[in-house]
Amino acid sequence: MDWIAQINRQRWNALAEANVEYSQPYLDFTLEKAARYVYRYGILQQVAGKRVLCLASGGGQDSVAFGLLGAHVTVYDLSDVQLERDRQGAAHHGLQVTTIQGDMRDLSPFPSGGFDIVWQPYSINFVPSVDPVFHGVARVLKPGGIYYVAFANPFVQAIDDAGWDGQGYRLNGLYLDGEDISLRYPYWDVTRPDGSTIKLNSPHEFRHTLSTVLNTLARLGFIFLGSMGVDEARGIPWSQAPGRISPSQPRRGSIRFGSCVHKYPRFPEKWKEDFQISVDTLEKPYYNMSQSPESSGANECEVTILYLAFNL
Ligand SMILES: C[S@@+](CC[C@H](N)C(=O)[O-])C[C@H]1O[C@@H](n2cnc3c(N)ncnc32)[C@H](O)[C@@H]1O
Repeated sequence: MDWIAQINRQRWNALAEANVEYSQPYLDFTLEKAARYVYRYGILQQVAGKRVLCLASGGGQDSVAFGLLGAHVTVYDLSDVQLERDRQGAAHHGLQVTTIQGDMRDLSPFPSGGFDIVWQPYSINFVPSVDPVFHGVARVLKPGGIYYVAFANPFVQAIDDAGWDGQGYRLNGLYLDGEDISLRYPYWDVTRPDGSTIKLNSPHEFRHTLSTVLNTLARLGFIFLGSMGVDEARGIPWSQAPGRISPSQPRRGSIRFGSCVHKYPRFPEKWKEDFQISVDTLEKPYYNMSQSPESSGANECEVTILYLAFNL
């Protein structure tokens, strides 16, 4: 284990012990709730019998949802306590869930093509590079398998409420791949059951630029099925899936990273020859969002979700 994994294991254990929202197993889930959760964007269908890897997805939430729907679930996570929550959730619902401790950058415990679905909620930002993770996912997914991945909108990581000037948010940092964002936000405020708040050390958390994420996936043979932006505070999608955009159907298209982004990223017409997707252009040193701090705040559109098919 390198230093990042060692520290983040400790810090995620501490956050889970403090029962942050990502560590509370879905004990109240029913079949209906599980279906609403897993099938919410209309891309996944009928996961019963499918082999699902819940990647860096501990906490007893995703594993419970997929388990209730009849999938064969494996959870792979760094944190002892997060995995304990998956076992707790599984025991509560009478489900068989396999839990394995490990680093998302090393998927060697799993056979090639061993999964129909890899489901990765917000977690890839806890490693400095997407490369080993995406390569591992490409290996363990079967051809045609689906990869769900959530990651921080990298523009939102460079703004805060204080930067609102009436028009937009002025960027407060450089747009750097691999920057350790937790150095700027070193603590999580965690509310305890008695209402008091404690500060816990943030896990190390890194920016991944849009071009790095999208181009790495495209080069590995992933095809974009859809994207959504999620305002974590309200939990609603802010854009619809753009439709299927694939090497075999080259066309101009856009992944709409929200009305928030000045210039929509364009997929090149000659997709086949040129996988480079230019997505990082902002015309001004601004992240222009429609929402002021009073109405919504700088964390609008905080998380981006991609659905991809591997080697279709
Ligand atoms: C925000 S939580 C996501 C899962 C959560 N149940 C949810 O509600 O979305 C991030 C997860 O990533 C895990 N994690 C962080 N770094 C990891 C790594 N290098 N390898 C595997 N898991 C990691 C943490 O232990 C934690 O369970």
